[in-house]
Amino acid sequence: MIGVFDSGFGGLTVLASLLKTLPRYDYLFLADSARAPYGARSADVINEFTLEAVEWLFDQGCPLVVLACNTASARALRNLQQLHLPAHRPDRRVLGVVRPSVEALAGLPPGAIPGETAPSLATGTVAVLGTASTIASDSYAIELQKLAPGLTLIQQPCPMWVPLVEAGELDGPGAEYFLRRSLEPVLNRAPLPQRLLLGCTHYPLLLPAIRRLVPASVEILDQGEIVATRLADWLQRHRDHEARLTRNGTRRFVTTDDPAWFAQRGEKLLGRPLHAERVHLRAR
Ligand code: SIN
Repeated sequence: MIGVFDSGFGGLTVLASLLKTLPRYDYLFLADSARAPYGARSADVINEFTLEAVEWLFDQGCPLVVLACNTASARALRNLQQLHLPAHRPDRRVLGVVRPSVEALAGLPPGAIPGETAPSLATGTVAVLGTASTIASDSYAIELQKLAPGLTLIQQPCPMWVPLVEAGELDGPGAEYFLRRSLEPVLNRAPLPQRLLLGCTHYPLLLPAIRRLVPASVEILDQGEIVATRLADWLQRHRDHEARLTRNGTRRFVTTDDPAWFAQRGEKLLGRPLHAERVHLRAR
């Protein structure tokens, strides 16, 4: 079973792509809706919450966990991979969304390894939009510097976009005001970015409104698709881990808040009926 974690229901945008590209596997999707959004929280708190979520997914029988949440990937993944897993869970793997997204921004094939794969010779400008915490972590800039040092990166925090999505405000004058406010610093400069990454699970829900504001010459990258195709490649290259994943096509959805609310939002996003359960990650 593959565990997929997000702070909220937005990570279903990534799950939808995983289900399309890798449908045979069993999936357990966990949304920490009671504590979402993570984007304005401190690095310490994001680390603590992500660790609890990942441990819970391991305990449910997931040998592999995908952090669909950019904020958790940017803030907690390194700590998990470098400190927690080797010491406590050497047989488990946790993958994030930053590295595959940076490979795609750089135009590199899946599986580029800094120091081993020749860095991309690409030049030009690319942009990442994310939560305040994702952008403050600088993780996109750090990875891009390793894989494509010739590319200039514009990083733009969009602090109001997750609250807009959580409130169901995907269009209309209110949404447009906040979309313009965060897009203008990126678009009112020359040269325009060639590629723009929506570096947050919630942002694809704003895509129609964003697309209207961004010139057609700017390619907007679909993070869900990127993560799914690069996970397929990772599984090909890590056969021992792949062999430990069950393949009955089951899907289970759990949330730390109201399951009915989650199911209602999730059904719209996945386009299919969905049953969700409530779980407690720790005694609160
Ligand atoms: C959040 O929890 O603030 C948004 C999720 C993400 O960063 O992808």
